[in-house]
Amino acid sequence: MSTIPPSPRRAAVLKGLGTYLPPRVVSNEELSGRLDTSDEWIRTRTGIRQRYWVDPGTATGDLAFEAGARALKAAGVDSVDAVVLATSTPDHPCPATAPAVAARLGLGTVPAFDIAAVCAGFVYAAASAASLIVAGLAERVLVIGAETYSGILNPADRTTSVIFGDGAGAIVLEAGSAEEPGALLGFDLGSDGERHDLITIPAGGSRMRTSEDPADQYFTMQGKPVFAHAVTRMGESSAALLERIGWPTESVDRVVGHQANVRILHALADFLGVERARAVVNLDRVGNTSAASIPLALADAMLSGEVAPGDRVLLSAFGGGLAWGSTALVWPDITAA
Ligand code: UT7
Repeated sequence: MSTIPPSPRRAAVLKGLGTYLPPRVVSNEELSGRLDTSDEWIRTRTGIRQRYWVDPGTATGDLAFEAGARALKAAGVDSVDAVVLATSTPDHPCPATAPAVAARLGLGTVPAFDIAAVCAGFVYAAASAASLIVAGLAERVLVIGAETYSGILNPADRTTSVIFGDGAGAIVLEAGSAEEPGALLGFDLGSDGERHDLITIPAGGSRMRTSEDPADQYFTMQGKPVFAHAVTRMGESSAALLERIGWPTESVDRVVGHQANVRILHALADFLGVERARAVVNLDRVGNTSAASIPLALADAMLSGEVAPGDRVLLSAFGGGLAWGSTALVWPDITAA
């Protein structure tokens, strides 16, 4: 009697990674020159030593284009079936930034749309792309996280100005099987809109188009409660995902959490019961780059050898919304550009 082997489960598989940082480095010392802050405060309270900010005239779409081109090159492909771009600093309130980026990349008339999930944006975008692939709507998708927070930071607000940086990261996902390295093995996503006030730009949307108070056009964050939510939400989301995919916590080689604060990354490791040394940290170099944070951290971890083929890698992000999400993969043998 012959048995038919079960067909492998279709999954989205990571094929290439590309990143881009604008050339201008902004040091803690530079910020200390114009704000009531210090290198010592920024380093000890956040872990950040420097960040990159765009020069005037450079938009999020420009960074997204560069990272997207590098991801396509790293994957060795020149076409995709869709582009999903995560950002909370789009080129315009309308239309989405993704179609213009797709056109500049020479990707033709493929579907292209933005995801607005703030710092959780990259994981939400990867989940959307993976869903297109698993549903059979696409074979290959370019996922980009790109931000220019320097443009929405209140120059007079030391609590946010020292934290955020600009940058972009992108991945190519392709249809494959859940058994192969690089397959995104599942997602845990969530939101808590009861606390949407914790991270917000008050004006510029339909609730308040304009405001007499110039501060309303800038990004605001209540740091302390956001910190506490970040640890709990990323921790619970990661634990739920690990249980669902059957990975014991101790089998996780690297935890790539959203790069907001080194104290959050250590608290997340403690929450999960993972050694702190397994937490990937690159915020010292780039700051908090919101939707670009996870791919930028992955690229640095690849370069340093912290993430190597065969490693079990957990990704978890959290931000405004509130919104959070986690995914996991066995690291594939890919290149980063
Ligand atoms: O990306 C989305 C997710 N974002 C996050 O996860 C960010 C989460 N939050 C944080 O990382 C931290 O809450 C911050 C880094 C934003 C702030 O650190 P903190 O340890 O929570 O500081 P705090 O807000 O409690 O402020 C402590 C003190 C205050 O002074 P007083 O009231 O004790 O006199 C602040 O005014 O530090 C002061 N402070 C500063 N001092 C120098 C706040 N910002 C600065 C600054 N430089 N840049």
